[in-house]
Amino acid sequence: MRKKKIIIAIDGWSSCGKSTLAKQMAKELDYIYIDSGAMYRAITLYFLRNNIDITSKKEVREALESITLEFIFNPKSKNSDIYLNGEDVEYLIRDLVVAEKVSDVAAIREVRAFAVAQQQKMGKGKGIIMDGRDIGTVVFPKAELKIFMTADNAIRVERRFKELYAKNPNISIEEVKNNLEMRDYIDSHREVSPLKQAKDALILDNSQLTERKQLELALNWAMGKILVKNT
Ligand code: DC
Repeated sequence: MRKKKIIIAIDGWSSCGKSTLAKQMAKELDYIYIDSGAMYRAITLYFLRNNIDITSKKEVREALESITLEFIFNPKSKNSDIYLNGEDVEYLIRDLVVAEKVSDVAAIREVRAFAVAQQQKMGKGKGIIMDGRDIGTVVFPKAELKIFMTADNAIRVERRFKELYAKNPNISIEEVKNNLEMRDYIDSHREVSPLKQAKDALILDNSQLTERKQLELALNWAMGKILVKNT
Protein backbone atom coordinates (compact mmCIF):
# COMPACT_ATOMS: atom_id res chain seq x y z
CA MET A 1 0.00 0.00 0.00
CA ARG A 2 1.14 3.55 -0.66
CA LYS A 3 -0.28 6.84 0.59
CA LYS A 4 -1.67 9.53 -1.64
CA LYS A 5 -2.35 13.11 -0.60
CA ILE A 6 -6.00 14.01 -0.65
CA ILE A 7 -8.30 16.93 0.06
CA ILE A 8 -10.73 16.55 2.97
CA ALA A 9 -13.76 18.84 2.99
CA ILE A 10 -15.79 19.20 6.19
CA ASP A 11 -19.07 21.09 6.02
CA GLY A 12 -21.99 21.42 8.38
CA TRP A 13 -24.09 23.56 10.68
CA SER A 14 -22.63 26.12 13.07
CA SER A 15 -21.12 24.71 16.26
CA CYS A 16 -21.11 21.06 15.27
CA GLY A 17 -17.47 20.72 16.20
CA LYS A 18 -16.16 20.88 12.64
CA SER A 19 -12.98 22.71 13.57
CA THR A 20 -12.28 20.45 16.55
CA LEU A 21 -12.46 17.38 14.33
CA ALA A 22 -10.57 19.00 11.46
CA LYS A 23 -7.70 20.10 13.73
CA GLN A 24 -7.40 16.64 15.29
CA MET A 25 -7.45 14.94 11.88
CA ALA A 26 -4.85 17.36 10.53
CA LYS A 27 -2.51 16.49 13.42
CA GLU A 28 -2.97 12.74 12.97
CA LEU A 29 -2.52 12.86 9.21
CA ASP A 30 0.10 15.62 9.19
CA TYR A 31 -2.17 17.68 6.94
CA ILE A 32 -2.68 21.45 6.74
CA TYR A 33 -5.86 22.64 8.44
CA ILE A 34 -7.67 25.68 7.08
CA ASP A 35 -10.60 27.24 8.93
CA SER A 36 -12.51 28.91 6.08
CA GLY A 37 -15.00 30.45 8.51
CA ALA A 38 -12.12 32.42 10.05
CA MET A 39 -11.68 34.15 6.68
CA TYR A 40 -15.32 35.29 6.61
CA ARG A 41 -15.03 36.36 10.24
CA ALA A 42 -11.85 38.38 9.61
CA ILE A 43 -13.48 40.10 6.62
CA THR A 44 -16.47 40.90 8.85
CA LEU A 45 -14.18 42.34 11.51
CA TYR A 46 -12.62 44.61 8.89
CA PHE A 47 -16.07 45.70 7.66
CA LEU A 48 -17.20 46.48 11.22
CA ARG A 49 -14.05 48.43 12.07
CA ASN A 50 -14.31 50.47 8.90
CA ASN A 51 -18.10 50.92 8.90
CA ILE A 52 -18.46 49.36 5.48
CA ASP A 53 -21.99 49.61 4.09
CA ILE A 54 -22.56 46.04 2.94
CA THR A 55 -25.40 47.11 0.66
CA SER A 56 -22.92 49.15 -1.41
CA LYS A 57 -21.10 47.00 -3.99
CA LYS A 58 -18.53 49.77 -4.44
CA GLU A 59 -17.69 49.97 -0.72
CA VAL A 60 -17.48 46.18 -0.47
CA ARG A 61 -15.23 45.92 -3.53
CA GLU A 62 -12.89 48.65 -2.32
CA ALA A 63 -12.75 47.16 1.17
CA LEU A 64 -11.84 43.73 -0.21
CA GLU A 65 -8.99 45.34 -2.16
CA SER A 66 -7.58 46.57 1.16
CA ILE A 67 -7.72 43.18 2.87
CA THR A 68 -4.89 40.67 3.06
CA LEU A 69 -5.54 37.42 4.89
CA GLU A 70 -2.87 34.95 5.96
CA PHE A 71 -2.74 31.86 8.16
CA ILE A 72 0.38 31.76 10.32
CA PHE A 73 1.36 28.90 12.63
CA ASN A 74 1.12 29.69 16.33
CA PRO A 75 3.66 27.56 18.24
CA LYS A 76 1.71 28.02 21.50
CA SER A 77 -1.63 26.64 20.31
CA LYS A 78 0.02 24.49 17.61
CA ASN A 79 -2.62 25.73 15.17
CA SER A 80 -2.65 28.44 12.54
CA ASP A 81 -3.96 31.88 13.49
CA ILE A 82 -5.61 34.13 10.97
CA TYR A 83 -3.94 37.47 10.29
CA LEU A 84 -5.86 40.44 8.92
CA ASN A 85 -3.49 42.91 7.25
CA GLY A 86 -0.62 41.68 9.42
CA GLU A 87 -2.57 41.60 12.73
CA ASP A 88 -3.34 38.35 14.53
CA VAL A 89 -7.15 38.48 14.89
CA GLU A 90 -7.74 34.82 15.78
CA TYR A 91 -9.16 35.76 19.20
CA LEU A 92 -11.11 38.88 18.18
CA ILE A 93 -13.05 37.15 15.39
CA ARG A 94 -14.65 34.72 17.87
CA ASP A 95 -16.59 37.55 19.52
CA LEU A 96 -20.40 37.55 19.35
CA VAL A 97 -20.29 41.01 17.73
CA VAL A 98 -18.59 39.40 14.72
CA ALA A 99 -20.81 36.30 14.87
CA GLU A 100 -23.89 38.52 14.63
CA LYS A 101 -22.79 40.01 11.31
CA VAL A 102 -20.74 37.26 9.69
CA SER A 103 -23.56 35.42 7.93
CA ASP A 104 -24.71 38.61 6.19
CA VAL A 105 -21.16 39.33 5.07
CA ALA A 106 -20.60 35.73 3.93
CA ALA A 107 -23.74 35.94 1.78
CA ILE A 108 -22.22 38.67 -0.43
CA ARG A 109 -21.18 37.33 -3.84
CA GLU A 110 -17.98 39.42 -4.04
CA VAL A 111 -16.90 38.36 -0.56
CA ARG A 112 -17.34 34.70 -1.44
CA ALA A 113 -15.44 35.04 -4.72
CA PHE A 114 -12.58 36.71 -2.80
CA ALA A 115 -12.43 33.96 -0.14
CA VAL A 116 -13.03 30.98 -2.43
CA ALA A 117 -10.20 31.96 -4.83
CA GLN A 118 -7.74 31.97 -1.91
CA GLN A 119 -9.10 28.71 -0.51
CA GLN A 120 -8.71 26.96 -3.87
CA LYS A 121 -5.10 28.19 -4.12
CA MET A 122 -4.36 26.72 -0.68
CA GLY A 123 -5.64 23.33 -1.84
CA LYS A 124 -3.42 23.12 -4.92
CA GLY A 125 -0.84 20.88 -3.24
CA LYS A 126 -3.50 18.69 -1.55
CA GLY A 127 -2.75 17.30 1.93
CA ILE A 128 -5.29 19.76 3.29
CA ILE A 129 -8.38 19.67 5.50
CA MET A 130 -10.74 22.61 5.20
CA ASP A 131 -13.94 23.17 7.11
CA GLY A 132 -16.82 25.50 6.31
CA ARG A 133 -20.21 25.53 4.61
CA ASP A 134 -19.46 25.16 0.89
CA ILE A 135 -16.16 23.30 0.85
CA GLY A 136 -17.45 20.02 -0.61
CA THR A 137 -19.96 21.72 -2.91
CA VAL A 138 -18.15 24.79 -4.29
CA VAL A 139 -14.54 25.15 -3.12
CA PHE A 140 -13.42 21.56 -3.70
CA PRO A 141 -16.23 19.72 -5.51
CA LYS A 142 -13.70 16.99 -6.36
CA ALA A 143 -12.42 16.51 -2.79
CA GLU A 144 -11.63 12.84 -2.22
CA LEU A 145 -13.37 12.84 1.18
CA LYS A 146 -16.37 14.99 2.08
CA ILE A 147 -17.85 14.93 5.55
CA PHE A 148 -21.11 16.65 6.47
CA MET A 149 -21.41 17.24 10.22
CA THR A 150 -24.56 17.64 12.20
CA ALA A 151 -25.70 17.45 15.85
CA ASP A 152 -28.87 18.11 17.85
CA ASN A 153 -29.68 21.80 18.21
CA ALA A 154 -29.72 21.79 22.01
CA ILE A 155 -26.30 20.14 22.12
CA ARG A 156 -24.86 22.66 19.68
CA VAL A 157 -26.22 25.60 21.71
CA GLU A 158 -24.77 24.19 24.91
CA ARG A 159 -21.35 23.66 23.33
CA ARG A 160 -21.17 27.18 21.91
CA PHE A 161 -22.50 28.69 25.15
CA LYS A 162 -19.72 27.04 27.17
CA GLU A 163 -17.13 28.32 24.71
CA LEU A 164 -18.39 31.91 24.74
CA TYR A 165 -19.18 31.98 28.48
CA ALA A 166 -15.55 31.25 29.26
CA LYS A 167 -14.68 34.54 27.56
CA ASN A 168 -17.72 36.57 28.59
CA PRO A 169 -19.75 35.48 31.66
CA ASN A 170 -22.44 38.07 30.82
CA ILE A 171 -23.57 36.13 27.81
CA SER A 172 -26.96 34.40 27.98
CA ILE A 173 -27.93 31.04 26.55
CA GLU A 174 -30.81 32.78 24.70
CA GLU A 175 -28.39 35.07 22.86
CA VAL A 176 -26.29 32.10 21.80
CA LYS A 177 -29.34 30.10 20.69
CA ASN A 178 -30.73 33.02 18.66
CA ASN A 179 -27.38 33.62 17.01
CA LEU A 180 -26.97 29.94 16.03
CA GLU A 181 -30.49 29.73 14.62
CA MET A 182 -30.07 32.96 12.71
CA ARG A 183 -26.72 31.91 11.21
CA ASP A 184 -27.99 28.46 10.22
CA TYR A 185 -30.98 30.05 8.53
CA ILE A 186 -29.00 32.67 6.59
CA ASP A 187 -26.19 30.22 5.71
CA SER A 188 -28.61 27.65 4.28
CA HIS A 189 -30.97 30.08 2.53
CA ARG A 190 -28.59 32.50 0.83
CA GLU A 191 -28.52 32.72 -2.94
CA VAL A 192 -24.76 32.19 -3.39
CA SER A 193 -23.31 28.83 -2.28
CA PRO A 194 -25.83 28.00 0.45
CA LEU A 195 -24.92 25.42 3.05
CA LYS A 196 -26.05 22.05 1.79
CA GLN A 197 -24.81 18.52 1.93
CA ALA A 198 -22.80 17.45 -1.12
CA LYS A 199 -24.36 14.37 -2.74
CA ASP A 200 -21.21 12.33 -2.11
CA ALA A 201 -20.66 13.52 1.47
CA LEU A 202 -20.62 11.11 4.42
CA ILE A 203 -22.84 12.26 7.27
CA LEU A 204 -21.37 12.47 10.75
CA ASP A 205 -23.94 13.12 13.48
CA ASN A 206 -21.92 13.60 16.63
CA SER A 207 -24.79 14.24 19.09
CA GLN A 208 -24.01 11.00 20.89
CA LEU A 209 -20.35 10.54 19.95
CA THR A 210 -17.33 11.32 22.07
CA GLU A 211 -14.57 13.36 20.42
CA ARG A 212 -12.44 10.25 20.38
CA LYS A 213 -15.07 8.12 18.66
CA GLN A 214 -15.78 10.72 16.03
CA LEU A 215 -12.07 11.09 15.33
CA GLU A 216 -11.69 7.31 14.93
CA LEU A 217 -14.61 7.19 12.53
CA ALA A 218 -13.40 10.09 10.40
CA LEU A 219 -9.81 8.80 10.34
CA ASN A 220 -11.09 5.45 9.12
CA TRP A 221 -12.91 7.18 6.29
CA ALA A 222 -9.79 9.20 5.48
CA MET A 223 -7.46 6.18 5.47
CA GLY A 224 -9.87 4.45 3.10
CA LYS A 225 -9.13 7.23 0.59
CA ILE A 226 -5.46 7.82 1.42
CA LEU A 227 -4.18 4.23 1.21
CA VAL A 228 -3.99 2.91 -2.32
CA LYS A 229 -2.81 -0.47 -3.52
CA ASN A 230 0.58 -0.59 -5.22
CA THR A 231 0.08 -1.46 -8.85
O1 DC B 1 -17.49 28.15 10.88
P1 DC B 1 -17.76 29.52 11.48
O2 DC B 1 -18.91 29.52 12.46
O3 DC B 1 -16.54 30.17 12.04
O4 DC B 1 -18.23 30.41 10.23
C1 DC B 1 -18.61 31.75 10.38
C2 DC B 1 -19.61 32.13 9.33
O5 DC B 1 -19.00 32.17 8.05
C3 DC B 1 -20.81 31.20 9.21
O6 DC B 1 -21.96 31.74 9.85
C4 DC B 1 -21.06 31.08 7.74
C5 DC B 1 -19.83 31.61 7.08
N1 DC B 1 -19.09 30.61 6.30
C6 DC B 1 -19.45 30.43 4.99
O7 DC B 1 -20.42 31.03 4.53
N2 DC B 1 -18.74 29.60 4.20
C7 DC B 1 -17.69 28.93 4.69
N3 DC B 1 -17.00 28.11 3.88
C8 DC B 1 -17.33 29.08 6.04
C9 DC B 1 -18.06 29.93 6.83
